[in-house]
Amino acid sequence: MAGARTSGSNGRWGRRAALLLATLVGVASSGGPGLALEGRGRGHHRDSLERAAGRLDRDLARDALRTLSRGQAIFRYDSFGNEDFWGGALRLHEAVATVDPVTALAVGLKVDVEALPRSLVKALKRGEVDLTDPQVTVALLKLDAVVGVKGVFDAGGQFESMGIQCALCHSTVDDSFAPGIGRRLDGWANRDLNVGAIVALAPDLSPFADLLGVSEATVRQVLNSWGPGKFDASLSFDGKAFRDDGQPGAVLIPPAFGLAGVNLHTWTGWGSVSHWNALVAVLEMHGKGTFVDARLNDAARFPIAAAAGFADVRTDDDRVTGKLGALHLYQLALEAPPPPRGSYDRHAAKAGEELFSGKAGCGTCHVPPLYTEPGHNLHSPEEIGIDAFQAERSPARGYRTSPLKGLWTHAKGGFYHDGRFETLADVVDHYDAFQALGLTPAEKRQLVEFLKSI
Ligand code: HEC
Ligand code: HEC
Repeated sequence: MAGARTSGSNGRWGRRAALLLATLVGVASSGGPGLALEGRGRGHHRDSLERAAGRLDRDLARDALRTLSRGQAIFRYDSFGNEDFWGGALRLHEAVATVDPVTALAVGLKVDVEALPRSLVKALKRGEVDLTDPQVTVALLKLDAVVGVKGVFDAGGQFESMGIQCALCHSTVDDSFAPGIGRRLDGWANRDLNVGAIVALAPDLSPFADLLGVSEATVRQVLNSWGPGKFDASLSFDGKAFRDDGQPGAVLIPPAFGLAGVNLHTWTGWGSVSHWNALVAVLEMHGKGTFVDARLNDAARFPIAAAAGFADVRTDDDRVTGKLGALHLYQLALEAPPPPRGSYDRHAAKAGEELFSGKAGCGTCHVPPLYTEPGHNLHSPEEIGIDAFQAERSPARGYRTSPLKGLWTHAKGGFYHDGRFETLADVVDHYDAFQALGLTPAEKRQLVEFLKSI
């Protein structure tokens, strides 16, 4: 089970958790909350962490750590029973069994190097592993090393089914071993991942075809239209595969870090993190769980969802609801990673910061340090100068002010919900023109450098 995997390969959180645990042990042996730890190497990161932990109630700290660790295991390894759908109904595993690692990496799947035994890492380094052999893909699945994909094997070791996990779309790896192979980076949007192309390989797409009332060929065509880094969560609610201009209705995978303190979530403000997690686990990933949202009964806007009863999904075998708390805490704990050293011009970024909250007026909506509104963070399409297509596909009928931390991690695929602006400079040009800001070329550059720095 997933929970068994949490020790040893926890990355950033693992180190923090270890420190915190060490502190707790220290607290326990000193008999008082953190007092014995004061004064050692003041100002040092480790000691400030120890002091912070020392101020926490011991039971609270221990419970929080336990819940966080459980949340991480759910985020990385839980499939909520959805192998009955991806393997059972779509038979996607049959297609996956024919895909070699080179092809799997090319469609954006990532390999967790920390899940590989030392001998395999050595063999890979020596070039002794045939990455054009589909058997190797199956072996990687058996090792639980393909990020976000759960392989199910029978007693004889035969690959008999598969499921998907949150990490499929919301994690990537640091490429420390090779491109696509490295340590997990939880919360990062996988903008290389071509979800549509992968699902389109499934031998049986009739569950989607039946739901949408179209042919399997049409389903395949729609899936193949999405491209890397995108997914269309609203398709199975409203059946709108394409926009009026013929572009796909899919949106970019957003990061799942930097969400603490942010009110509404998703590009179009569907609700809270917990609301969306339940929706995704049950309605999109096809896990076994309960989901209730009466807004999906609106047959005019969500004809498919209303007919399918998505507004009220119940089950006796609920494998989602009991996990929402830990999953929530884990996502809120994932901070946006700071930009790499030297990745932006400090001097220009400083000037850009003043423009951001001053002349350019960005900070009225992207309020620092959340970079979204503390409060109801939703805007009409007119307020930000774009079309209403995606906004109208959400019950909130608007666009959520994107929290901007860690933009540098998801520059691939572009910006705004559908990636319509290829670069940050294009985003700034849009605001400059739409709001007649009168920014000079130098000021625009400063704003971009600031955006790269947060
Ligand atoms: C197939 C890819 C995919 C999978 C799997 C997936 N997501 Fe997402 N996630 C997306 C996309 C795409 C969006 C944006 C949806 C939108 O705005 O319409 C999103 C949005 C989110 C958001 C909102 C982020 C924000 O900026 O407010 C959260 C939180 C989230 N997902 C968490 C999860 C969790 C937890 C799981 C597992 C239960 C999960 N996702 C599984 C693709 C995925
Ligand atoms: C009226 C409120 C508002 C103002 C003012 C505003 N923004 Fe935004 N911003 C938004 C909303 C809403 C979105 C989400 C758009 C979407 O998803 O299509 C957004 C998205 C963005 C994004 C894309 C984030 C991503 O993850 O793709 C960037 C970058 C950005 N804004 C920067 C700025 C800058 C720079 C300024 C000032 C020049 C600014 N914004 C002014 C509301 C605002």
